[in-house]
Formats: sequence, C-alpha cells, structure tokens
Amino acid sequence: HSPEIDRARSLIRVVQDHPVPGVAFQDITPLLADARAFRACVEALVEPFAGSFDVVAGVEARGFLLAGAAAMLTGTGLVPLRKAGRLPAPVASASYALEYGEAAIEVSVDLHTGDRVLVLDDVLATGGTLAAAARLVRERGAHVAGAACLLELESLGGRAAVPDAHALIRV
Ligand code: PRP
Ligand code: MG
Repeated sequence: HSPEIDRARSLIRVVQDHPVPGVAFQDITPLLADARAFRACVEALVEPFAGSFDVVAGVEARGFLLAGAAAMLTGTGLVPLRKAGRLPAPVASASYALEYGEAAIEVSVDLHTGDRVLVLDDVLATGGTLAAAARLVRERGAHVAGAACLLELESLGGRAAVPDAHALIRV
C-alpha cells in the first residue's frame, strides 16, 4: 500500500450500531471530504485499468461519487447504472438480491455494444450489486474491462461473486 492510500484508509469513520444495532458502519464521507485522499483513491482505483476502458459506469448512488471523478481524470465518458425506475428510457436491467427482497439496476442506450467499461462502486459487501452491474454491462453487449471499489468488507464474502474486482482498501 502507498502511504497515500494508508492515509485515506485512516479517514474512514467507523460508526457503531448503524444502520442497525451490532453493525459497525464504514463511512467513507471523511475520505471524500479530504482533497488529497479523494484524489489518491480515484487515481489508484483506475490505475490497474489504464488504457483498457473507454467508459466509466458508476452504480447509483454512492458509485456516482467515484465514477464522475474517475471519468474526468481518465478522459472517458460516464454512464450511470441507475436504480430501477429512475431512467426515462432504460434498455437493459439486472436484478440482485437484498437482505429482504430484490432490487434492480438499469442502463440507457448510451452504453453501446462493444464499449470497454470500467465499473465502479464505493463498497463491495455481499457482492450482489457489483456482480449485477457487470451482468448489466454484458447484457448490453459491452465489455467489462474491470470492476473496482474503494472498500471491500471482507467478512461478507462478496469476493466470491466478483473474483476479479479491484478493491483499494479491505477491512
Ligand atoms: C451499498 C453500497 C454498494 C452496495 C454493496 O449501496 O453503496 O453499492 O450497498 O452491497 P452488496 O455488495 O452487498 O451488494 P446501497 O444500494 O445500499 O446504497 P446507495 O444507494 O447509497 O449506494
Ligand atoms: Mg450503493
């Protein structure tokens, strides 16, 4: 790990008993609020995929925080993978399991067949979201150049669903 990423890691705030008792919530807000840490993380997120993608796809909502910055940094476009019902004209969708029930994400026609896509999200927990994002990109006929997240919560075992995901910080 670089000293900059170690520093970024130290800025993650652990909030006990959120959102329910017994859970130690990893809040990346202080990291995002720190200019140096934010920049270092976005640079390190995209670094392994340099030159291999033309589009960044960010997962709503918190993936957007990273995807916009990553797209600007790398001179690529941004396509949002939005929660179901938000896009005016979705052309593909992928559903995934939640603790209770199901959710889905959707994409617009702006993701094209053959696009090389870097999928970004903030957190990898059970892996359902990032795996659905990759499926959605493929469903559209685009190519997943990679999937990356800022933070992996290892105890939740999500890596099994996305074995090749690049995780910057692991707790
Ligand atoms: C959170 C987080 C990841 C996802 C990870 O999103 O931002 O997207 O959960 O969980 P998983 O690996 O178990 O799928 P959530 O939809 O809860 O909230 P958000 O809209 O604020 O991003
Ligand atoms: Mg999310």
